[in-house]
Amino acid sequence: MDLRSLIRDVPDFPKEGVIFKDITLLLQNSDALKETTNALIKLLNGQKIDKVVGMESRGFIFGPMLANRLNAGFVPIRKPGKLPSTTLSETYDLEYGTDTLEIHIDAIEKGDKVLIHDDVLATGGTANAACKLIERLGGEIVQCNFLIELTFLNGSSKINGYPTQSLLKY
Ligand code: PRP
Ligand code: MG
Repeated sequence: MDLRSLIRDVPDFPKEGVIFKDITLLLQNSDALKETTNALIKLLNGQKIDKVVGMESRGFIFGPMLANRLNAGFVPIRKPGKLPSTTLSETYDLEYGTDTLEIHIDAIEKGDKVLIHDDVLATGGTANAACKLIERLGGEIVQCNFLIELTFLNGSSKINGYPTQSLLKY
């Protein structure tokens, strides 16, 4: 199945000059949804995972499906002020300004084998912040995996040292 044909380019979204990769056509197609999940699981090559960590919001789509398939738990990393209990935060630089992500301090146990998942790897800021949060909690990052990687933005160079895999590269 040609998954690429179900990724729609939307020019000038969310702002002028950006070509947005819209995955909704892929999500709404039952065969494509199954094939994508299977393919993301295959990227792991059978490695054992205790926790799948997904970043708000689009990391919450495949993250829990992957966790279910891997017999792992799911851990949300959220935007500031959304998680109710005690959190750790990481702030990272954007083109203009900064952004912050949070995780519950009791979400990861020392030595947990972690898969970090998000829909898109762009500049790598989001994924890098997620890696730092997992490191600070003592988790062992087995892989960072993505549905889409925008290779021209060089995000994988930001995720220093962790194995990174993506299904569709542009
Ligand atoms: C998008 C995408 C990734 C991130 C990638 O999320 O879902 O999480 O950007 O960009 P980066 O590699 O440059 O950090 P966005 O912040 O747009 O929010 P959303 O998932 O809530 O739509
Ligand atoms: Mg996102």
